[in-house]
Amino acid sequence: MTTANGGHVLVVNGPNLNTLGTREPSIYGTRTLDSIIEELRAHAANGSPGFAIDAIQSNHEGVIIDFLHERGPAALGLIINPGALSHYSYALRDAISGIRKPTIEVHLSNIHAREPFRHTSVTAPVANGIIAGLGARGYLLAADWMRAEIVAKTFV
Ligand code: DQA
Repeated sequence: MTTANGGHVLVVNGPNLNTLGTREPSIYGTRTLDSIIEELRAHAANGSPGFAIDAIQSNHEGVIIDFLHERGPAALGLIINPGALSHYSYALRDAISGIRKPTIEVHLSNIHAREPFRHTSVTAPVANGIIAGLGARGYLLAADWMRAEIVAKTFV
């Protein structure tokens, strides 16, 4: 297995995602965030190239923005589920666009099939793409895209 020079991808989960497992399981499933991140770490490490995951969950917008400022420059890319911040945080949008790294926005639920206020993501336009409605598997699919992106950037 080759690794991307010890490189790592940031994985950010926003407000309320620490309560996965018990939070509205009919919408978000029964997996805990810890179990999702554990599976994601193994998935990221076991492919070729493997890469590490630097993960944070916070209920505080400023903590997430500080994390992106501090860790963004050295990261290979960003996988982010901003939670409800997706729908209104221009500050988070600016932080994501500011680090200029390959970015995938993930939502467990299909935000377009839910309440109207969830249909708009102000952060999605500064991501390369979004995955919504595929549950926890969305994070793994995001990691697969990130791996392909790392390969493409390494061999240009
Ligand atoms: C979510 C969707 C958001 O609308 C919601 O506020 C969340 C979770 C999702 O993963 O489906 O907290 O981002």
